[in-house]
Amino acid sequence: MNHPVSESQQRERIRTTIHADADAASALVAGELAALIRRNNDAGRPTVLGLATGSTPVRLYRQLIRLHREEKLSFRNVVTFNLDEYHGLPRTHPESYWRFMHEQLFDHLDIPPANIHIPDGTVPRAEVFAWCGAYEEKIRAAGGLDVQILGIGRTGHIGFNEPGSGRDSRTRLVTLDALTRRDAARDFLGEKNVPRHAITMGVGTILDARRILLLAWGEGKARVLAGAVENPPTDALPASFLQGHPAVEFHLDAAAAGELTRQCHPWLVGTVDWTPAVARRAVVWLSKTVGKPVLKLLEEDYSEHGMADLLTEQGPAYGLNIRIFNELQHTITGWPGGKPDADDTHRPERAFPPQKRVIVFSPEPSDDVLGMGGTLRRLADQGHELTVVYLTSGNLGVPDEEAAMAAELVIELAGTGEETKFARTVRRQLGAKTAFDSDTPEVRRLKGVLRRGEARASLQACGVAPDRARFLDLPFYEQGRYRQFRIGDPDVAAVAALLREVKPHQIFATGHSADPSSVAAVCFEVLRRALAMNVGEDWRADCRVWLYRGPDREWEPAEIEMAVPFSPRELTQKIQAIYHHKSQRSQSPVVAAGLHESWQQAEQHNRAIARRYDQLGLAEYEAIEAFRRYDP
Ligand code: GLP
Repeated sequence: MNHPVSESQQRERIRTTIHADADAASALVAGELAALIRRNNDAGRPTVLGLATGSTPVRLYRQLIRLHREEKLSFRNVVTFNLDEYHGLPRTHPESYWRFMHEQLFDHLDIPPANIHIPDGTVPRAEVFAWCGAYEEKIRAAGGLDVQILGIGRTGHIGFNEPGSGRDSRTRLVTLDALTRRDAARDFLGEKNVPRHAITMGVGTILDARRILLLAWGEGKARVLAGAVENPPTDALPASFLQGHPAVEFHLDAAAAGELTRQCHPWLVGTVDWTPAVARRAVVWLSKTVGKPVLKLLEEDYSEHGMADLLTEQGPAYGLNIRIFNELQHTITGWPGGKPDADDTHRPERAFPPQKRVIVFSPEPSDDVLGMGGTLRRLADQGHELTVVYLTSGNLGVPDEEAAMAAELVIELAGTGEETKFARTVRRQLGAKTAFDSDTPEVRRLKGVLRRGEARASLQACGVAPDRARFLDLPFYEQGRYRQFRIGDPDVAAVAALLREVKPHQIFATGHSADPSSVAAVCFEVLRRALAMNVGEDWRADCRVWLYRGPDREWEPAEIEMAVPFSPRELTQKIQAIYHHKSQRSQSPVVAAGLHESWQQAEQHNRAIARRYDQLGLAEYEAIEAFRRYDP
């Protein structure tokens, strides 16, 4: 396609804009849609929009609703076609895309119901083929799609066009990938409830749109996006077929754009400003690319890999190698809370005070041990005053079977008191629950209690006294559904009050670059706002915030500012601690190929960092947990 690209974007085969955040991107896209709708309204022409579901477009839809309410944007003459729908779900199902679209958008606009088209998940199997042909025909009869809005799945799917979908595919019934079903499991309150099939527009149907806008947020999407934008098109990554379209544009937040070459390896696509951080990233990358430890990198390694100007500025190679090696070396510490009475000039944490007040924020119970179980043990062993704060109850993530078993247990104990009454109520409610129903407050309470028990047991396995745990049960979560959380003042006030009470020297948190609709990202935003309320309080000047990473991805070695190594025995202890989160294990003994249990993922991440440090020529450890500083 013809579009002006800057030098740094030369590898990008799709026009891609990186925005400050998801809200800024959504506002821009809403503006483009509004301008088109207004133009067409003025000319008496309809506007035909292809729409998507998922958490990604929710912000865009909120903007459109705002434009309608506050700026009189009319949708009377807008015709919509949705991309897809689960097969086998009636409209009334809480997870049906029909319901999603009405709740998130249509119910708030003046669009006539007859203008709305969404694939029908209830069409009998034998009639689906004909039904799909008719859907295509309706799009054609409406004049074709003016704009198609897209999100992207972690498999690289658009709509429900999973890997293997052809460029010319049309609207049809498809089978969902194991990863897609796992990603949807939480919304459906269990993987077993996720439909196996869906009806989706085909890749060819999407490519027929005159304009295509794909939105994506969060680091979980970074890898597939880089593939779709920079690699040759392939049916292994259906979004890459968008490259052939004359008017496609991707709008990303910084985390989702994180693996584009201009972001992660800018020296390969032009001149760069060699700040210390960029130089470190480049040298670490070079070491991996040529397969040599840092101290063995040669002048020619640099010049053959687009880094000659780094040498000119900061060389020769030997000196640069030593500088970066030392920087990496200084990230390693067995004293995550600082080493008392030691020279801390080159240590990640301050020596003073020797015993720190430390808060570890865990968005859901288990995030703490998954991300930093080994470090938790160190902090406890080294005498710091630890508070582990579980921000949400995590009750949405507990399978019904677990709650039913717990209720039975109480009933079996044959008490006559309030507990038994409560357990009987839960048992009755679970018995009456259909796949459509959300949990009652009683069931959620019991599920929350289960997670508290697991969190305490897990802390104990990390050597942390269970009474160091605090459970905030933030209201945004208790009142919300997955992907539809909204932060309120009480959420922020609860965290701000806790910070004021503890006055921490050190905070560990996560969720910083996660999908903004995820529990971790919402929790991080609550913390960010709480910290903003505390600016100016005396403890703030003396408080450092460290970020740990969620299960999707680990830090790259060059991003790490504190690396806490641990022994084989400590790794086993960490896995044991994670294992205590029984309700979070897969509910089936048969785990689909390529998918892993959470403790396996954590183990892989921690071993992988250790291996990378070893390959850089640093000491060889069994496992490492890694952190980055955050400046609130
Ligand atoms: C589902 C939808 C896609 C959507 C994807 C990503 O699979 N069929 O259209 O793009 O999920 O979802 P989310 O936006 O919640 O990350």
